[in-house]
Amino acid sequence: MSGFSVAWLDLREGADNAARNTTLAAQALAWLTSDDAGMPIIVDLGSGTGSTLRALTRHGADNFVWRLVDHNPALLNEALRRHGKTHIIEDYEADLLDLTTLPLTGTRLVTASALFDLVSLSVVDALAVRLVQHQAGLYAALNYDGITQWNPPHPLDGPVLAAFNQDQRRDKGLGLALGPDAADYLQMALGRAGYTLWIADSPWELGPDDAALVCELIPGIASAVADGYGLDRQALQEWKDFRLAHAATGHCVVGHQDVLALPPALHAT
Ligand SMILES: C[S@@+](CC[C@H](N)C(=O)[O-])C[C@H]1O[C@@H](n2cnc3c(N)ncnc32)[C@H](O)[C@@H]1O
Repeated sequence: MSGFSVAWLDLREGADNAARNTTLAAQALAWLTSDDAGMPIIVDLGSGTGSTLRALTRHGADNFVWRLVDHNPALLNEALRRHGKTHIIEDYEADLLDLTTLPLTGTRLVTASALFDLVSLSVVDALAVRLVQHQAGLYAALNYDGITQWNPPHPLDGPVLAAFNQDQRRDKGLGLALGPDAADYLQMALGRAGYTLWIADSPWELGPDDAALVCELIPGIASAVADGYGLDRQALQEWKDFRLAHAATGHCVVGHQDVLALPPALHAT
């Protein structure tokens, strides 16, 4: 999963929107608007085409400066094409492996969606240091949490999920990935820094209306676990065929968690 296409990000966005925890999104917005120091600045990490911008705008975000950070210029250009005329956007082509150059000056909130399961523990640690320096909050939505439940069930669901969760921890360019531990680790790292944390479930609940997404998800999972995890090739093919055959009628829950972390209140000395 080193490259994310516009088509894949578009395909998952409806499920992401339905899944995003509305209480945490509202709290994030309240934090953004609770400071009267001018137009709030948001830095969106791994912005893709701007899904967090779209989600928070739908929740009422207005008149913010959006600094979109991604290493993929095609995704940034697409974000600019879609929103450059309606929003104040500063685009930054940058690698999140180097957080020292992250443009955090004046930032009220750092956001991300579907990102932290891809990053390593040391990226989170480095980010926590930068957040503290700038007393910025963090709103990290849609971190995969290791749960995937299929209906109807298949005998290979358990072994496939165990292999997939192992694969989720592979290095995808940002160090050994946190995978299903992302929300827990964010909670630990920012709790250690004195931040107040809120965590809420934000599962994809996919049914027949999401068949197009499910039909992409299934081969993606099968290909991720095909080598190196001891699964029988023929059995895996049968699992994939079974899952695809039920994509338009079955159900699937993919667990995620949203995290909001806000800095401690500043006390006068
Ligand atoms: C799963 S996508 C999520 C995109 C967007 N936040 C969304 O929810 O649609 C992960 C994003 O992180 C970006 N990304 C991955 N590795 C990165 C890196 N090393 N530096 C900067 N961005 C990275 C990808 O280009 C992609 O846009």
